[in-house]
Amino acid sequence: MILYFAVVHWCVNTLEYKLRFLSVAFSGEWMKKALITGITGQDGFYLTKLLLDKGYSVHGMRQALAHDDRVHLQDMLGDISFHYGDMSDEASLQRVIADVQPDEIYNLAAQSHVGISFSMPEYTKNVNGHGVEKLLRAVYERAPKCRFYQAGTSELFGNAPAPQNENSPFTPESPYAEGKLIAHNAVLNYRKAKGLYAVNGILFNHESPKRGDDFVTQKIVKGAIALKQGRQTCLTLGNLDAQRDWGHAADYVEGMWLMLQQDTPRDYVLASGVSCSVRLFVEDVFAVLGMPIKWQGNGQEEQGIFLENGAVAVNISSAFYRPSEVHVLQGDASLAKRDLGWSAQISRQNLINEMIAAALGEHQ
Ligand code: GDD
Repeated sequence: MILYFAVVHWCVNTLEYKLRFLSVAFSGEWMKKALITGITGQDGFYLTKLLLDKGYSVHGMRQALAHDDRVHLQDMLGDISFHYGDMSDEASLQRVIADVQPDEIYNLAAQSHVGISFSMPEYTKNVNGHGVEKLLRAVYERAPKCRFYQAGTSELFGNAPAPQNENSPFTPESPYAEGKLIAHNAVLNYRKAKGLYAVNGILFNHESPKRGDDFVTQKIVKGAIALKQGRQTCLTLGNLDAQRDWGHAADYVEGMWLMLQQDTPRDYVLASGVSCSVRLFVEDVFAVLGMPIKWQGNGQEEQGIFLENGAVAVNISSAFYRPSEVHVLQGDASLAKRDLGWSAQISRQNLINEMIAAALGEHQ
C-alpha cells in the first residue's frame, strides 16, 4: 500500500514538473537562471519557491556546514542545485558566479541577527559588508549582464523618525547595520560608476513559520506554545517597547523579484506600513492561544501575568537587551506600490495565526 502511494506521488510530482517546464519552453522564454546566496534561510526558502513557480532554474550558494533542516529545501520540486561558497572567500564567489552564469543574483547571505552582531562585530561587518563588495566584484568581472539584488534592511534607518522611506537618513545603531551600510553604498557605486543593474531592497521585518528561533516573533510563538504544553515555565524577553513593522516573508520575496524586472534599477523600501510593539505582539500570541495575559511592573521588573491564575508568563532579562536599540521602525512603501505594484498582503494577525499553527504542528 505504502509503495503504491509512493509511486503515485512520484508520478504526479514528475508530471507537474514536466508540465511547468513545457509551459515555460512554449512561452518562448528560456529558463532564467537565478543564484541565491543564503538560500538556506527563511527568505531563501520563499524566494526559491517563487522562482521555481515562475519556471526559473535555481542555484543556491551555501556554506559548508549550513543547516537547512528548518527550511526543507530538499522537498521542493523543480530545477534546483547547490554550490558551496562563502561571503568571506572571494575565490569561491568568483568560481560560483563563473560556473553558474546567472541572469539574476539575490544576495541574501548575511549574519542576520542584530543582537549577535554586538558580540561578533568584525565577522558581521566582513560578511554583511565587505562580503558584498567581493560578490559585486565577482559579478562585474564574471557576469556583468547579471541583475543583482542586495538584501538591505530597515535597520539602516536606526532611530531616524518614522515612517521611514527611501529618503530617510541612515543612522546605523549596530555592527549589523554598519555592515549593511557598506553593502548599500557598494551597490550604489557599482550601479552608478560601473553600470551594473544592482538594487538595494530596504526591507522591514518579515517573518514566517520558517523564521529562526532567535528572532523575537518565533521566540514568542514557540515559547508561548511551550508554556501552554507545560514544557517551559516562563518566557524571558528583552525590550518590550521596541516597535517593528512586521510583514510576511512570502510577500517580501515577491517584491525582491519585482525589483529585478524593471527597466531601470532603483532602490525600494518594502514594508507593511503598520507597526506594533513587542509587548503587543506577545499579547496577541497569548490571546490566540486562549491564555490572555496582563502586564504589571515597569522596566526590567515588568511581568506578563496569566489572567486565569495569576502565574508569571513573561519576565524580562537584561541579557536580551541590546547595547543600543532601534526604537520605532514603521515603513512607507508607497514608492514600491507606485512603481512595482507591490504591497504587503498578509496581515500581522494572519502571520501570527500561521506561525502558531505551524509551531503547534511540530509539537503534536
Ligand atoms: N531577538 C530578540 N530576542 N529580540 C528581542 C527580545 C528577545 O528576547 N526581546 C525583545 N526583543 C526586541 C529586540 O530588541 C528588537 O527591538 C525587536 O525585539 C526585534 O528583534 P528581532 O526579532 O531580533 O529582529 P530585528 O528587528 O533586530 O532584526 C530583524 O529585522 C531586520 C529588518 O528590520 C532581522 O531580520 C534583521 O536581519 C533585519 O534586517
